[in-house]
Amino acid sequence: MVSNQSFVNWFRDSSPYIHSHRNKTFVINFGGEALLDPDFDHLVHDFALLKSLGIRLVLVHGIRPQIDERLQKLDAPALFHKNLRITSDLALQCVKEAAGTARVEIEALLSLGLANTPMAGYGLRVASGNFVTAKPIGVIDGVDYGHTGEVRRIDGAAISRQLDQDAIVLISPIGYSPSGEVFNLSAEQVATQVAISLKAEKLIFLTEQGFNYPESGEPIQQMTTAEARSFLDHHPDLPNTVSLPLKAAIQSSNAGVGRIHLIDRRTDGALLLELFTRNGIGTLVSEAPFEDIRSATLDDIGGILELIKPLELQGILAKRTREKIETEIADYIVIERDGLIIGCTALHAHRHGHFGAIACLAVHPGYRGGARGNRMLEHAYRKAKKLALKKLYVLSTQTAHWFIERGFQPTDFNHLPEPLKILYNPERNSKILVRDIE
Ligand code: ARG
Repeated sequence: MVSNQSFVNWFRDSSPYIHSHRNKTFVINFGGEALLDPDFDHLVHDFALLKSLGIRLVLVHGIRPQIDERLQKLDAPALFHKNLRITSDLALQCVKEAAGTARVEIEALLSLGLANTPMAGYGLRVASGNFVTAKPIGVIDGVDYGHTGEVRRIDGAAISRQLDQDAIVLISPIGYSPSGEVFNLSAEQVATQVAISLKAEKLIFLTEQGFNYPESGEPIQQMTTAEARSFLDHHPDLPNTVSLPLKAAIQSSNAGVGRIHLIDRRTDGALLLELFTRNGIGTLVSEAPFEDIRSATLDDIGGILELIKPLELQGILAKRTREKIETEIADYIVIERDGLIIGCTALHAHRHGHFGAIACLAVHPGYRGGARGNRMLEHAYRKAKKLALKKLYVLSTQTAHWFIERGFQPTDFNHLPEPLKILYNPERNSKILVRDIE
């Protein structure tokens, strides 16, 4: 049983995202594998939930296993070249059937709404159509791809109109040519182009695997596009299931899509965990870093106060008023993680005396153990060096050892520069530490 408190915490933590996702356009791609999952209805209900929260939703489904199955029944080979299906006349027939069936099944589940909940009868509307114009891939390496095509144009305006009318847009991996031909397309490519054409806030790939660093096996939680590019450069032998979504992420990010999420859909509720928690569960690719260290601005004061309040109460940090932080805000360095201040410190520089004082170093309890304190101290050290300071002081009641491990040495009151002597509060009886700046 979930305790009342953990429910309340969970709801409060997700509310900033409920708020920020509203009226945003999300394009979600999932493979035909998802349709075969006995729990596919859970996923469809999660789509309905997103819609009910005001998200403009475009779904792009795949049909690979469904096409293979039909070909197999006909005793026809599934032919691929460079990981792309060669679509014969017979295969095209299978593509049309698979796409039609898949669409009907998805529409049926969406029509069911959130059965057995107060949202039953919510009445979702689903729109499909000829939004994708395609052209043949043609002959590559002497191989004729037949009815396999690539996206030529997306009718973004028509999709937007449907979204404005409050419909969920459902798109199959099929495109049409102006002369009425039908092409078999890659669902991932369609989703990418749709997201670009709509300038979607998010492009989400629900995948059949997680994304991990090959060396450590650790999950990749987030990457900037630049990091994703260098990751691909350093790992030329990644399987296509990993490299293709990453390439699509880079491409769409460059074209203005805000965030690209790669989510292993095999965890029940993975989509909700990714979208409504700060840390998510998948891999986020975005132009700007998800977590960043930077100088503070006046907008950060609320976050800084929130962060240091518990530490002040425990006596670990000296009390500071809002006004004091406001006047000294230029001294502060913060770590921001998707809008939340999870770390701060201040470097008070005394330029004439060529020394500085480190103060107010704090890391959010949920984010300790990730070397964030180190990063802030190093940031402050570099800043001090730039200001040509020669010594860094710190006064600490409970964390002296942490600073000593990082090159600080104990000293005493008599060795403090005069301006710091005046500030020294004998009641706190802090340890005094100093480090030379080289
Ligand atoms: N829930 C937030 C969002 O939808 C943050 C997700 C962060 N995910 C991650 N893998 N780092 O944008």
